[in-house]
Amino acid sequence: MKAVVCARYGPPEMLRLADVRTPVPKDGEVLVKVHAVSLNASDWEMLRGKPLYSRVGGLFRPRHHVLGSDIAGRVAAAGRAATLFRPGADVFADILSQMGGFAEYVSVPQRVLAPLPPGMTYEQAAALPQAGAIALQGIRDKGRVRPGQNVLINGAGGGSGMYAVQLAKLAGAEVTGVDSTEKLEFMRSLGADHVIDYTREDFTRAGRAYDLILDLAAHRAAWAYPGSLSPGGRYLYVGGSVATLLQVLLLGPVIGRAGRNTMRLLPVRLGAQHLAPLVELCQAGEITTVIDRRYRLSQVPEALRYLGEGHAKGKVIVIVE
Ligand SMILES: NC(=O)c1ccc[n+]([C@@H]2O[C@H](COP(=O)([O-])OP(=O)(O)OC[C@H]3O[C@@H](n4cnc5c(N)ncnc54)[C@H](OP(=O)(O)O)[C@@H]3O)[C@@H](O)[C@H]2O)c1
Repeated sequence: MKAVVCARYGPPEMLRLADVRTPVPKDGEVLVKVHAVSLNASDWEMLRGKPLYSRVGGLFRPRHHVLGSDIAGRVAAAGRAATLFRPGADVFADILSQMGGFAEYVSVPQRVLAPLPPGMTYEQAAALPQAGAIALQGIRDKGRVRPGQNVLINGAGGGSGMYAVQLAKLAGAEVTGVDSTEKLEFMRSLGADHVIDYTREDFTRAGRAYDLILDLAAHRAAWAYPGSLSPGGRYLYVGGSVATLLQVLLLGPVIGRAGRNTMRLLPVRLGAQHLAPLVELCQAGEITTVIDRRYRLSQVPEALRYLGEGHAKGKVIVIVE
């Protein structure tokens, strides 16, 4: 089969499309013929080995030789003990812990798969897992957004932000999206009431306070945020710099208590099987998946560069023919 192979950390140009052995599913696994795979910031981070946390399990050489985690496709074969999905079943999954989606086939444990939701295309389903889980848990489960609250989403123009803005609006919040200049119009189109261009304005110095700051691109010192939180407000770190992550982990409880706020990391529980509420909203047409660009398997390096250089508005999808 064809797969996009990553032998060392570096730029996307060193990836190569190669012929590799088609995996054979073990007992509890199924072999999925990949039809669509969406790109995430985690693919870009694991490709380059930056930030440092992306090297967990592979300090000098990548732990995963084929990247790509959010897949949708059709079961081609099932291992002996795999009884949940039979060949021919349409499925989708987040396989972040093993990767391997930039390939024609991938063998995965059956427990990580969910049935392709009725009415959804492979592309739409592949867009959902990681970005959807971050948004669902950041806005609903841990963000606990209520009507009338002020919510700021930092990095709102990317994949997770796309779902987070829409979920926060559906929850009745007043939403501020922060991202780069070229994404301001996109954030408005998702429903953001206010937009801030981070290249021109620092929201932590604007004197406004929010009930929730969902930080998808955290690059400030942890003590920069409390001034932008309302009393009882919460700051959730999702992704960004390691320095901010460490500060939030070590100092967050102290900083939070001092300002009567909550400041913590959001460890996202990944998995297509946890996405039912978001899937229903998508099926009902209340949440839209915006697919910015589609690429072929041979174009994965271009697709990753497009995402990594910050051009993507919504999701970038690789179609595996
Ligand atoms: N906590 C967890 O358990 C967990 C699990 C999975 C993933 N993650 C992390 O979650 C994050 C989610 O990312 P995603 O998939 O939504 O990524 P994405 O699609 O790349 O979106 C990130 C957005 O942030 C913007 N951005 C970059 N620097 C910024 C800054 N200084 N201020 C404001 N916006 C900025 C980017 O735009 P420009 O590039 O144009 O600036 C981009 O639009 C990633 O960092 C990923 O590693 C966390």
